[in-house]
Amino acid sequence: MQRKRTIIISNRLPVRIERKEGQLHVIPSEGGLATGLGSIYKEGRNIWIGWPGFIPANEEEKIEVTEKLREHNLIPVFLTECEIEGYYEGFSNEVLWPIFHYHPSYAVYDQSYWNMYESVNKKFADSIMQQEVMDTDEIWIHDYQLMLLPKLVRAFNSKIAIGYFQHIPFPPDELFRGIPWRDELLKGLLGADLIAFHTYNDTQHFLNACTHILGIPIQNNCLRSGGRSVYVEVFPMGIDYDKFNELAQSPEIQTRAQDIRSFYQNRKFILSIDRLDYSKGIIERLKAFECLLKTYPETRNEVVLYMLVVPSRDTVPKYKELHDEINRMVGHINAVYGNNEWTPISYFYNSYDIAELSALYVASDICLVTSLRDGMNLVCKEFIASKESNNGVLILSEMAGASKELIGPLLVNPNSIQQICTALHMAIQMPEQEQRKRLDDSLEIVKKFNIRHWVRLFFKRLKEIKSIQQQELAR
Ligand code: G6P
Repeated sequence: MQRKRTIIISNRLPVRIERKEGQLHVIPSEGGLATGLGSIYKEGRNIWIGWPGFIPANEEEKIEVTEKLREHNLIPVFLTECEIEGYYEGFSNEVLWPIFHYHPSYAVYDQSYWNMYESVNKKFADSIMQQEVMDTDEIWIHDYQLMLLPKLVRAFNSKIAIGYFQHIPFPPDELFRGIPWRDELLKGLLGADLIAFHTYNDTQHFLNACTHILGIPIQNNCLRSGGRSVYVEVFPMGIDYDKFNELAQSPEIQTRAQDIRSFYQNRKFILSIDRLDYSKGIIERLKAFECLLKTYPETRNEVVLYMLVVPSRDTVPKYKELHDEINRMVGHINAVYGNNEWTPISYFYNSYDIAELSALYVASDICLVTSLRDGMNLVCKEFIASKESNNGVLILSEMAGASKELIGPLLVNPNSIQQICTALHMAIQMPEQEQRKRLDDSLEIVKKFNIRHWVRLFFKRLKEIKSIQQQELAR
């Protein structure tokens, strides 16, 4: 008898295909999810299905990529330009993303986006069906790009275990209600057995939406759908603690961190790292930094804001606008406050490898996270994991999922420029002993609830739920 198989599905594969000097290369992702699920999908007949972030030029390239990926247990779903536009840029990032990050005015309710979202979700479902799944297999679907997939998979297999994890927030039901296709989205998710979010609030918002919009009664964290009990639970995602911790202690990274500090003449080093996104509060952060220089003139010449923004979704109009606004504000602050010896903000629009990120975490005195809304925010956990042997202060938005989990950061409401400014001033002056105490409190959590723990717990729970369902059927 064949052993059960685990199938992971997400919009993006944990690798991307790049064309370099006429050759196609498989570039692995260094993201936490790829690491956490690495030991799962690479094993035996397990697989990961997703988009390789690449449009093949012809049928030969398609075959070449498919074969290359097969060696890594990866199955590509190829998307056409039209599909990328409607499903990814359109419905995922111009409807779901703004609504789920509490920006309803940014949503573009275009029927053609929805049509393409439906059709690409079906394309992902077809790809699963081609894998000849068995009743005993388990499927883990990731994130908002694939909300219809649980129902589509359930339609062709009523017994299979289906888990869904949403990496971004779930909005209050009255915000969600605004989406014209809200019923279909909720029903899509209800094909799963376990639906999980980072925080308790997200689970409550989802449960409220099921009751208030679909009229399904809920009992604690459970609801009945299609004759099954569906469980809605909290699974705060962790990071690869060991990787960040070990990198930070390594002599190469320590030397690189020293070089960075010397380059900035040992000034107080404030670090921020995020993807280009309006949900990250980058404008608010820049305003708060300007407020610091204005309100506490003694900090001028003494601090530097090192701001790394990773390019993202720059074909979506709101992201383009944000990019321009950041350029304008950085230019303004540097021009008004800087001088021959000192540039207040070092701004980079680029992506760095994990070694360079690690050196930045080690080098920094303050990590500043000002998300207006964030599912979890893993940057703040990476900063903490890099600080076992040197100090630092984490300033964390209370709108990020991580704020519900970590003990020790200076919490701020990112809409209050004044509060961020005061927190920056406090962090600059914080005694070393207090920094250590706060870091240690967070370290314990980040270390224990790491990415491997998260993956183990999710599968364990999915298995438990399947056996509860079987007992219910037998009654
Ligand atoms: C967030 C989402 C992921 C997404 C990532 C990068 O973390 O939760 O699903 O993959 O952003 O965004 P992108 O649009 O480049 O995939």
